[in-house]
Order: sequence, then structure tokens, then C-alpha cells
Amino acid sequence: MKTHTSQKFVVGNWKMHTTSSEAEHLAKGIIEGFDRSEHVTVILCPPFPYLALVGEMLKGTQIALGAQNMYPDKEGAFTGEVSPTMLLDLGCKYVILGHSERRHKLGESDAFINQKVECALSAGLNAILCVGETLEQRNAKQTQAVLDSQLSQGLANVPPEFFSRLSVAYEPVWAIGNSLHHENPQQAQDALLLIRKKLSQICGDFRAQQMIVQYGGSVEPENATAYLGQHDIDGVLIGGASLKADKFLAIVHAAIAENEAEMQPV
Ligand code: PGA
Repeated sequence: MKTHTSQKFVVGNWKMHTTSSEAEHLAKGIIEGFDRSEHVTVILCPPFPYLALVGEMLKGTQIALGAQNMYPDKEGAFTGEVSPTMLLDLGCKYVILGHSERRHKLGESDAFINQKVECALSAGLNAILCVGETLEQRNAKQTQAVLDSQLSQGLANVPPEFFSRLSVAYEPVWAIGNSLHHENPQQAQDALLLIRKKLSQICGDFRAQQMIVQYGGSVEPENATAYLGQHDIDGVLIGGASLKADKFLAIVHAAIAENEAEMQPV
């Protein structure tokens, strides 16, 4: 039986997809197909323009609302940006930070991501910090160095009491949106173990054991159980498969079944 979490996390990252009617249809399908369960935490992260719409629909359900990004300040002259205060006002409980698409396509640095993590947590949000290596870095055997550096820089100076609202998502860049990659849950487990060891150094064994550490990268209904069954994988961050209610729900149900199995005394 695992000790670090009592629930699996399933996060839907809709990225820059959906129109308002598609967002409404998708959220409706997920809400209608999901039965309450103490075995799973489900989080939907629609694009900013649809947070209010989806947030309204999620009220009274067991599904939480999350955002895909934020600016690290409460308010100010930051044209086009969205603050943690605004996210909380819209009912967000979670925010994804440091996603590889923001690191690599929008040039976000570890220092900037660190400011976001600190600001999100001090505002009262739960932060999901994404880390992961590129294919070139993996081939050059730099995976551990990259993960260590993204974690130590991303979490620099984060007060220890904030760690209970932090989770980490391992998202190898080469596996994201790439259903053709050769999926390898054991490889994911190996990386997540490195992440948990680094977290132990940063915030101590107890907090590191309690922390939710997730995997993301082409998770589909067909492979979700294999990932969720790994010892250090407490949840999954889903991109493509979160855009179809039936696929997303199949992953949620796989997470519930896996958690039920793990909770059985051996
Ligand atoms: P994917 O995306 O499931 O489409 O690979 C995961 C993510 O980027 O969060």
C-alpha cells in the first residue's frame, strides 16, 4: 500500500482549445459522467476566457477549477496578464505553472516560474509545478540534472509551510502531445523517484512523501492504469485526452479503480 497520498489526481489541461460552446459541452459531459468518489481529485483547467463559465458549472460538484498560468503579482500595470487574485475571484483552486510549452515556446525562465510559484502559494492557490527534460537532454543523460535544477530553482525560497499546497508534474517534453512515442511507465516512475528524492532535499522527507507528484505526456485511457499503478505516480496531467469527455472520464475511472486497489490492506 502506498503511503504518500490517499487520492489520485486527474488534471485536464485544455490548453488553447475550445470555444465557449465547446467548453460548455465538454464540462457538461464530464460533470454528468462523474460520480462522486473519495478516491480521486478531478481538476479542469480551461483557457482563461472560459474560467467563469466552467467555474459556474462546477459549483456544487466535486470537480475543482484550475488555471493554466498566471502573472506573479496581485495587480498592476501588466497589460494582458492575469493575477492570482483574479483566479481566486473566479473560483480557481489550482494553477499550472512552468508548463514546458511556456518554458520552451514562450521563453519562461526558472526564475520567473519561481516568482509565480511563490506568488500563487502565498495568495492561497494550490500550484502544480511542471518540470521535464527535452529529448536532447535525455539523450545526453542530463535528465536528473535538468529535474534537479528546475526543482531547486523553481522552489527557491518557498516557505516550508507552503509545500502542502504544491504538487509537481513530471512532463518529459518529448512525450507531450506525442502518442507515437514509445510509452514507458517504468521510465516515468524512475524520473518521479528522482523528483521525490530532490523534493526530500528541498523540503524534507515528510513533506516530500506527502506531496502529490504527477505524470503527464500522452496519457490516454489505454495507458492510464499503467502510469497510475507506478509507486511514485499520484496523478496524471492530461492534455489531448482531456478534450473528449468520454476519454477523460475513462482516465478518471481508471484512477479511482487504481486508488481503490492501493487502499486495500496487503
Ligand atoms: P498531452 O499533454 O496529454 O496532450 O501529452 C499533456 C500536457 O502537456 O499537460
